[in-house]
Amino acid sequence: MKSSSRTAIRGAALTFTGDPFLEPSASALRYEGDAILVMENGLISTFGDAPAILPTLPDDIEIATYPDSLILPGFIDCHVHYPQTQIIGAGGEALIDWLDKYTFVAEQTFADKSHASESAEIFCTELLRNGTTTASVFCTVHEQSADALFETAQIHDMRMIAGKVLMDRNAPKTLQDTARSGYDQSKHLIEKWHGTDRLLYAITPRFAASSTPDQLELAGALWREHPGTYVQSHIAETHQEIDWVQELYPDRKGYFDVYDHFGLTGPRSIFGHGIYLTDEEWQRCHDSNTAIAHCPTSNQFLGSGLFNIEKARNAERSVPVGLATDLGAGTSFSMLQTMGAAYQVARLAGTELDATQALYMATAGAAKALCLEDKIGTLEVGTEADVAIIDLKSRPIIDYRMQFAESIEEQLFVLMTMADDRATCATYIAGNLAFERE
Ligand code: GUN
Ligand code: ZN
Repeated sequence: MKSSSRTAIRGAALTFTGDPFLEPSASALRYEGDAILVMENGLISTFGDAPAILPTLPDDIEIATYPDSLILPGFIDCHVHYPQTQIIGAGGEALIDWLDKYTFVAEQTFADKSHASESAEIFCTELLRNGTTTASVFCTVHEQSADALFETAQIHDMRMIAGKVLMDRNAPKTLQDTARSGYDQSKHLIEKWHGTDRLLYAITPRFAASSTPDQLELAGALWREHPGTYVQSHIAETHQEIDWVQELYPDRKGYFDVYDHFGLTGPRSIFGHGIYLTDEEWQRCHDSNTAIAHCPTSNQFLGSGLFNIEKARNAERSVPVGLATDLGAGTSFSMLQTMGAAYQVARLAGTELDATQALYMATAGAAKALCLEDKIGTLEVGTEADVAIIDLKSRPIIDYRMQFAESIEEQLFVLMTMADDRATCATYIAGNLAFERE
């Protein structure tokens, strides 16, 4: 982490002390109407009620004050494809045709390292403009696409998880590796980047349909050989894909069973979508502590279906779930808009989701899904000082609406429903100001 001088900020602040799916919002939330947050050497060193803390601070300390805002833990995007930034909004197709028509065409341009670096810079800058401080990122099959993302995240000092895609069938030849070359390149990237500064490596088989059993076998071996690394992939996003995976893996009992068979499930394993997981598969996610990334704007854009939040976060057998943009099938970098989409998907699925729960899945719950809850997703003292300052009045109509909000829960509901990137006042990374709105 880059060293930082001491930085202090003041304003209303909100963080989680519990899981609002398992206990009432009021006890899961810690809301400070007037808080001081001090950041030193990359970590939060003080957090609490301003009138109590002010007398303990040195007289000469400068405090940046954010009125009409909320100080939040930086947002966490649990599943996103940086090379697809250039095809957001390429529409008209469902998943498999969308991959063939737009995605695989775009991803071939990442053979060029300078193009990858340019894209990675735009991607990281956009995350910061949206108050997102950590993401779990798919690169392309090219080793240098992962180098480009890690180099860029390192310059921004971001806590970032990423990996080179593994894909040795059912894609254009120029986008395929082999089971062996994918293993070797991923191992090389792990040695180079995993644990370097704030960077973490995710072994990244794209999805079961684009990897041979040999490739998944080696991916599982690589994960076992490197404890602390991650696995990320896709699961149960569309019916067509599920049927295809069953044809390709006739001996397996279902989609989850494919990954499980090759040792790719468990803590630090996170799968995008999970719309059509069966009850038995949800149980197996719970039993193994495998996490799911809920990608509502993507599911709406591709018409993939409605994620069932009540099955996922059922208190009896709760599965770790983080929110995710899944760009470029997802349509926005904004985790506020992603929360709004999650709410609408929940309504359409006939389920309940409130704004506190949605915010949890974009912060503390996402950190938990990524096994990083001791480091990020919270404002607690001793954790990493990644912070988003969110304007409660970012547009005239939001300002007007907020005058009628009677509780913090209602304010959050309005933010989730109406706000977007324009609400990010500032983003701090490891205690340093990384983005400030004009
Ligand atoms: N399944 C396999 N690859 C992808 C991808 O790039 N995006 C989405 N949404 N689903 C996938
Ligand atoms: Zn995805």
